[in-house]
Amino acid sequence: MNKQQNILIKLIGICIMFVVVTAPSVIFAQQEKIISSYGPTNQTETFDQIKAARMAVKSERAKQHMELLNSRYDLSKKTTADVVMSGGKPVPVGPTAKLQGVTWEELNEMTPEQIKEKGWFPYKPLPFADHAEGGMLFPEMITKLLPRLVRFDLDFDLPEYILPDPAPAIYLTTRPDLGDVAKGRLITINNYYEIFNGILNPKQLEGLRLLVTQFPQQQFNATEDRRTDRPDGMLGVTCFDCHANGHTNGANHLVGDIRPQEFRHRIETPTLRGVNIQRLFGSQRALKTVEDFTEFEQRAAYFDGDICMAAKKGVNILERGSQVHFMAEFLAILDFPPVSKLNIYGKLDQKMATPSELRGEALFNGKAQCASCHPEPYYTDNSMHDLKAERFYKQELANGMMMAHDGPIKTFPLRGIKDSPPYMHDGRCFTLEDIVEYFNLIQQLHLKSEEKKDLVAFMRTL
Ligand code: HEC
Ligand code: HEC
Repeated sequence: MNKQQNILIKLIGICIMFVVVTAPSVIFAQQEKIISSYGPTNQTETFDQIKAARMAVKSERAKQHMELLNSRYDLSKKTTADVVMSGGKPVPVGPTAKLQGVTWEELNEMTPEQIKEKGWFPYKPLPFADHAEGGMLFPEMITKLLPRLVRFDLDFDLPEYILPDPAPAIYLTTRPDLGDVAKGRLITINNYYEIFNGILNPKQLEGLRLLVTQFPQQQFNATEDRRTDRPDGMLGVTCFDCHANGHTNGANHLVGDIRPQEFRHRIETPTLRGVNIQRLFGSQRALKTVEDFTEFEQRAAYFDGDICMAAKKGVNILERGSQVHFMAEFLAILDFPPVSKLNIYGKLDQKMATPSELRGEALFNGKAQCASCHPEPYYTDNSMHDLKAERFYKQELANGMMMAHDGPIKTFPLRGIKDSPPYMHDGRCFTLEDIVEYFNLIQQLHLKSEEKKDLVAFMRTL
């Protein structure tokens, strides 16, 4: 064997070694799934096949989710007849959070690091009913009235007593003399005209018509990839299917602007009362006007921020000047509920408030520092804050959701707050008592139990 042959053999040997060493990793890389930002627009399966696949996992996923809910919360009914929402439903009472082998008093004395280490934070981010699947999900109290909103593959998870009124009151900034215009009726395409004709101008009336008109959405549309059996469900959803009577019914969704799926937040429908005094819209998105948000909902949020999917499923493009503006004009006259105990500065009227409510107000503005982010008269600073709740829990998966950082979130206004449980962008606090426990830990306030009660009493007056 000459020198050249020798080099050739060595080279071949090196090549074989290279293939042997790298082949498994190449094959492995091929087997690894691509994490894509896009949904599967090109379906190769039929509606029946997709439905069968969803039904095959339905009960197991529901069981896992209910186990998580039951381990975190006491879901048995507790309300108070003394305090009602403006539509008349009793307000839920908490705290509903279950503690794992620790008392509230002990938690009060622990540092964020200690609570994180033990895994004892009672208000970790809340996953969606089936987080891997997502989509819009409507409470039973609404699907009973509007069966077109039933999803065959997913049942609503939270008990009705911690949800808002099924047909919330409507107050108009333009006609405060009328009081509640809804009077227990759920406003839909069937009754909006007779109820509002003669009260609104034609432009607002047309805006309201669009707010109660169905348009295609990710789960409710005519493609094989839908999650509705009903022909009327295929027409889509309306704005007021979630923002019932311009308020909220507790319907929830996954936020559209985060990928991958497990990092997306569960989001509770916020009320649209008082959007006129607000300057930022969306828990994280911070869109600047109600018009922008109205346009964005149907074009993007309805389809999880997936523009290809939106095109396939029949996105409805609203015309800015004659549709978006009209809808926003109606939304901008939805008032907060009237309250008797607040004066023109939005502070408690000393003569009407109880001693506990007054102590609560003093705490809110003083020791508890709530007012630094929630100043009167509307109890919002129209800004966003990062509460850094992740100081209290580890980043890990919970039923398909990564409990990660929330990042900066909009300061929601607290006017009319007793009307809109569950609270926070993802609904992790079911009652105002839970809210006080939450901020007591987040801000490390070391509040005493009487002080916590006073803060709740104050918030119920807002
Ligand atoms: C799932 C039911 C659902 C439907 C249907 C829906 N929304 Fe929303 N809406 C939400 C949720 C959830 C949010 C919170 C979004 C976020 O946190 O980013 C929201 C936020 C908003 C906001 C911002 C509120 C705020 O306080 O920041 C406006 C305005 C709004 N929606 C208007 C509309 C309009 C107009 C339509 C119809 C085109 C509509 N929504 C349809 C659930 C819904
Ligand atoms: C550093 C700013 C900041 C402070 C201090 C603060 N909040 Fe908030 N508050 C927020 C933000 C931001 C949110 C929304 C958080 C989310 O959705 O995850 C919020 C949400 C809430 C909500 C739920 C609103 C809704 O519509 O769901 C209530 C109620 C509330 N705060 C009450 C309080 C009380 C009571 C205190 C004082 C004990 C307090 N806050 C202190 C910024 C603050």
